[in-house]
Amino acid sequence: MERPAHGATVVVGSINVDQTVDCDRVPQEGETLFGTSFSQSFGGKGANQAVMAALLGADVRFVGQVGDDDLGAAAIANLQQHGIDTSGVGRSEVATGVASIWVEANGANRILVVPGANGTLDADGAAQRLSTIPSPSVVVAQLEVPIGAVRAAFAQARQSRAITILNPAPASEVPEQVLADTDWLIPNETEFAILTGEEVSQDAARNFAERWECGVIVTLGADGAIVAEPGKDTTRLSAPPVEVVDTTGAGDAFVGAFAVGLSSGLHPVAAAELGVRCGSSAVTKHGTQSSYPTADDL
Ligand code: RIB
Repeated sequence: MERPAHGATVVVGSINVDQTVDCDRVPQEGETLFGTSFSQSFGGKGANQAVMAALLGADVRFVGQVGDDDLGAAAIANLQQHGIDTSGVGRSEVATGVASIWVEANGANRILVVPGANGTLDADGAAQRLSTIPSPSVVVAQLEVPIGAVRAAFAQARQSRAITILNPAPASEVPEQVLADTDWLIPNETEFAILTGEEVSQDAARNFAERWECGVIVTLGADGAIVAEPGKDTTRLSAPPVEVVDTTGAGDAFVGAFAVGLSSGLHPVAAAELGVRCGSSAVTKHGTQSSYPTADDL
């Protein structure tokens, strides 16, 4: 896991357009309610993580797929405006991915994703585009693109001796080969339970880290995070108390910031502390990318 740092931060993942309705509470089955506001913005777990990394000053490259449509062009332009290299983003005949998001007054969210073009990122395309990036230090992936693309990207990352970070979201089982090629696994509590069949605890995180010989960080929202590494003491990080407005994309802020921290040579626990600070800051504002702090803010 100790490898050369300071190269590019590569994100292999999803690009969505988010359509968000804020409401006092979400409707029950058969019920119609009025929302309090509507907004359309750029999202996708991959794109959010890439933007967080770019806001902290990283050299970020993106590998993904959008549709050959107006939303896709706008989503690419958004990444470029954040200084992200999009030469690894392909255009597909399938429409750009969208997410329908409901955010309640207490900041809790519910999300339905229609992956669209994200689902057309294939293994060969992901590996080939990654292979053209000189000296990646960190390769980050999530599960909103096909698992074959993640598997191929991590295999390619191994050849480049890049650190691999998997955020297994949305929650899903992960093939053993992908886990074997993962240096850092960052699930939330739900994703951890699905992966391990166990409730989150420091011991459970440590056991999983030992079994797969990787670092494991379980993000716990307002309760901070657990950082476990094989053969090392497990660390429990707390989060600063904040007023929660919208939790959407806070986990992505954590992952993007942690990736930058590792890439710039921080100790993993210090990188996770940076992640907690960025995630905690993100929940104090509406939206995903628009809620993320910059290096100056921190
Ligand atoms: O994690 C938040 C993200 O999940 C949203 O931006 C949405 O697009 C979905 O991918």
